Amino acid sequence: MYTWEDRARAQSEKTQSLTLRPENTAGVVRAYIEHGLGESGLLQKLYYIGPQFRRERPQKGRYRQFSQIGAEVIGPPSAGSESPLRDAEVLEMLATLLDELGITGWTLELNSVGSAADRARYNEALRAALVPVVGQMCGDCQRRAETNPLRVLDCKVAADQPIIETLPVIADSLDEESKKHFAAVTAALDAAGVPYTRNHRLVRGLDYYTRTTFEFTHGGLGAQNALLGGGRYDGLSEMLGGPRAPGIGFAMGEDRLVLTLLAALEQGVVAAKADAFIAPLGEGMNAAALVLARELRHQGLWIELGEGSFRLKKSFEAADKTARQIVILGEDELQSGILTVKNFSTGVQTKVPRGELAVFLSN
Ligand code: HAM
Repeated sequence: MYTWEDRARAQSEKTQSLTLRPENTAGVVRAYIEHGLGESGLLQKLYYIGPQFRRERPQKGRYRQFSQIGAEVIGPPSAGSESPLRDAEVLEMLATLLDELGITGWTLELNSVGSAADRARYNEALRAALVPVVGQMCGDCQRRAETNPLRVLDCKVAADQPIIETLPVIADSLDEESKKHFAAVTAALDAAGVPYTRNHRLVRGLDYYTRTTFEFTHGGLGAQNALLGGGRYDGLSEMLGGPRAPGIGFAMGEDRLVLTLLAALEQGVVAAKADAFIAPLGEGMNAAALVLARELRHQGLWIELGEGSFRLKKSFEAADKTARQIVILGEDELQSGILTVKNFSTGVQTKVPRGELAVFLSN
């Protein structure tokens, strides 16, 4: 939480306590309860984009004000909200999103933190295992061993790692139901071909998590390598006074998304240029050029659209700066349906039938 006493505006006024929101999941669940969204009996798929605030020590990728893009799938159990298929569906969607953004080299780290009872059992096991070794660990670990032993697993101090490796893992404290749920999540991911690695230390900071927890990490981010994180929170609605409403969601750090895309641009793994620039020959061709741009964009291409009043030389210069190829659209091309395409890296000019243009340009 980011809470402080605000200054009084006038001498006669008292100071007031201000708290800025650190995340949105609890707020979404509160809204779900307040507006009776469970009454429809359907799954609710809710999203948010906006600033969050945490009192953290700032460093690359970790700020006191940052922005998240998040979504939650929540509903009554009868709508399938508890199903492991929901977890796999959210994870598959995220993998596809990152792929489509051109982000390669991501890792999906996956774990299960079980039920509240599983976690309580694990806490005890961890606390007991820490007693004989914690004296050799860093100051933070010594404090966490007392206050919240799960946080010891987040320690990054190199000298502590061999000790942490010997501690019990939460997988051993899961009950049969939680084990079965997790196995079904991974089976669906395997079937869909979504790669993941089990990270036994991924217990996550927020208290509301149950069962599946995950993070998508990326090497281009440095120490703060989580591009997005999330998990299941099956008891949260009841904790806030609502009906049973299991849910799962994620939040992506928008600032970290930008850092990842910049790193990918530098490595040349995401495209910095459009697939093609359409150059209408004369203002009379502008509308036809828009029709062609629309046609190609609907087929998933990244198109830059020129302007018919440009001289051909100007169109070529603009195209060379912004796109890999140029498509010339004049009266003749429109009538014949055969377009001229020039590829800037090879210098080759080709005549392409309009019906084959999308495939040609995407290669
Ligand atoms: P979180 O892991 O605390 O989860 O944050 C999600 C993402 O927000 C992180 O992976 C990271 O990209 C970004 N982020 C977090 N803190 C900072 C920061 N100080 N500076 C920059 N970026 C940051 C949640 O917030 C959960 N509400 C996610 C969730 C949704 N779980 C279930 N549903």
